[in-house]
Amino acid sequence: MNLQELGSSGVQVPDVGLGTWAYTGGSAPLRRGVELGAFLIDMAEAYHTEDAVGAAIEGIRGDVFVATKVSPSHFRRRDVHRAADESLRLLKCDVIDLYQLHWPNSRIPIAETMGAMEELVDAGKVRYIGVSNFSVREMEDAQAALSKSRIVSNQVEYSLTDRSIEREVLPYCQANGITVIAYSPLARGLGNFGKGSAALAEVAAKNGTTVAQVALNWCLHHDRVMVIPKSNSAARVEENCGASGWRLSDEDIAALEAAFPSQGERRRWFGVL
Ligand SMILES: NC(=O)c1ccc[n+]([C@@H]2O[C@H](COP(=O)([O-])OP(=O)(O)OC[C@H]3O[C@@H](n4cnc5c(N)ncnc54)[C@H](OP(=O)(O)O)[C@@H]3O)[C@@H](O)[C@H]2O)c1
Repeated sequence: MNLQELGSSGVQVPDVGLGTWAYTGGSAPLRRGVELGAFLIDMAEAYHTEDAVGAAIEGIRGDVFVATKVSPSHFRRRDVHRAADESLRLLKCDVIDLYQLHWPNSRIPIAETMGAMEELVDAGKVRYIGVSNFSVREMEDAQAALSKSRIVSNQVEYSLTDRSIEREVLPYCQANGITVIAYSPLARGLGNFGKGSAALAEVAAKNGTTVAQVALNWCLHHDRVMVIPKSNSAARVEENCGASGWRLSDEDIAALEAAFPSQGERRRWFGVL
């Protein structure tokens, strides 16, 4: 498993982490992933998976980089503190390695939310601050609201079927040392790759890999990008870990990008994932 720096933190995280939205796989797939080097586990208070992850990482907490998120409805100072304490309780941990704002919330001043995030860092409850689903403007405002911390990551949708961050968010993150944590990198299931599936299958056959590995490796081909596929199955987690440590050729990248053209404008989808 290749490692990469998280933002400008100096800390190394794996190319492939473990997503947990709608995760119902129990402990074994997560522990297998950690064993194979996929030691960043992504959660959110909204996913209700922190307790399952807490159980899965019991005894191996020191080997895991715990990433969770506070929901936008909890962006008031007092609520940020409460949400973090509840996540720590469910995770049975003393510290959240990466605490992310799940979605922007324009109704609550970002200075208040980021002030609370820095208080959590000062209290030793959070190590690094990240955001999710933030535009460039929102990242700039969030960074300006921090007095001493740097935003280390922006978790955004990125896959062959949704390349919209390539227009603004990805170049900004690359230029400013912010890690892009690519969510739904398998398009929420291989059946969703649609018309481009034939090209994916062809590139996979040529490289002796699986389609999922090609889809993930295409994301990793981009500087500053890591992926967090979710699987309930240990075998698929193993397969997904095999997406790191090799590179698609320029020719393969070109074939994939012709089959999955960039859509341009960033899509806004206010969900709870
Ligand atoms: N920040 C946000 O707003 C946000 C939004 C969405 C997601 N996320 C995060 O990103 C993570 C990943 O995104 P996602 O769960 O939406 O979608 P995803 O990882 O793109 O796809 C998950 C789906 O792919 C299947 N799958 C996984 N590995 C596979 C493989 N090797 N071969 C075939 N199928 C495979 C899974 O089924 P099985 O489980 O049955 O294997 C599941 O149905 C989430 O779990 C969550 O942590 C964040």
